[in-house]
Amino acid sequence: MNKKVSIIGAGMTGSTTAHWLAEREIADIVLVDVVEGMPQGKALDMQEAMPVIGKDVSITGSNEYGPTEGSDIVVITAGLPRKPGMSRDDLLAANTEIVGKVADETLKLSPNAIYIVLTNPLDVMTYLTWKKTGLAPNRVIGQAGILDSARMRAFVAMELGVSVVNINCYVLGGHGDSMVPLTRHSNVAGVPLHKTMPKERLDAIVERTRKGGGEIVSLLKQGSAFYAPSAGIAQMVEAILKDKQLIVPAAVYMKGEYGLNGIYFGAPAQLGANGVEKVIEYELNDEEIAELKKSAEGVAANIAALGL
Ligand code: NAI
Ligand code: 2OP
Repeated sequence: MNKKVSIIGAGMTGSTTAHWLAEREIADIVLVDVVEGMPQGKALDMQEAMPVIGKDVSITGSNEYGPTEGSDIVVITAGLPRKPGMSRDDLLAANTEIVGKVADETLKLSPNAIYIVLTNPLDVMTYLTWKKTGLAPNRVIGQAGILDSARMRAFVAMELGVSVVNINCYVLGGHGDSMVPLTRHSNVAGVPLHKTMPKERLDAIVERTRKGGGEIVSLLKQGSAFYAPSAGIAQMVEAILKDKQLIVPAAVYMKGEYGLNGIYFGAPAQLGANGVEKVIEYELNDEEIAELKKSAEGVAANIAALGL
């Protein structure tokens, strides 16, 4: 029997995640949304594309949770996206209600699932999902670090004219403007990043990475990024279903790592069949630790505002 991945929220990120996953042929997919007919229509359209790309997976759309029963992975993308001028934190109240309900409903039918959360504000919504489901923290993970790091990698590739494959960048911290792009740990085919370009160019890339989500929101004028975020989710799903032990930055529950406790926060995580198998700790200097601490304070304040 194929593995099953249920995606709750069949909007831009949810349906694009389904698309990336179907291309990988690693699981049957269920798309759930509150908008009548929309998940069914998108699922059927994608199902009809399968003969063209030669992939044998089933893609189901529904306004009910029944078809999600027995999911191996539940992906939560349900909620409101940002509008120009809004921060991710502005979404807190509305998305808390939506994500809380989604967590309750899905857990009843898939008590053994691993959860991947995308809805913003990401670190807080991941914490909320963990609290609501009562699952072990390794089974609830947030997607943000792959996206933020991929943005930085893309900007470095554009700057240097080098293949993206050669570029390793690591962005840690909360998924907000105080995220922490770690330039000292990033490299181009083993050459430290700061040796590959003048300081002002690297500073500009760091700044553009921090504001990367807002740049797309301003361009689109409606909604937010979806190709890169959903590619990030698909990479996480594959790492878990194939037990790849892949190390990527993700929002994970902190148990003392980096001096942080009791919050979800972006850190390098080893992903395998059990979800987060291990959190990796880099050696950081005082400046990097201070930046992480500042980012963590913002996340902790929003988590406290949940009042859970
Ligand atoms: P979207 O508006 O295209 O899709 C969201 C979908 O959720 C809509 O189709 C809506 O009908 C559905 N929905 C709302 N309430 C629901 C409920 N109770 N049950 C099921 N479905 C429900 O938005 P998009 O672009 O897909 O973004 C989704 C969320 O992901 C937003 O909060 C956005 O800010 C966040 N996001 C996070 C990223 C990250 O890296 N963590 C990256 C991109 C987006
Ligand atoms: C992003 O960074 C909206 O959080 C999303 O694009």
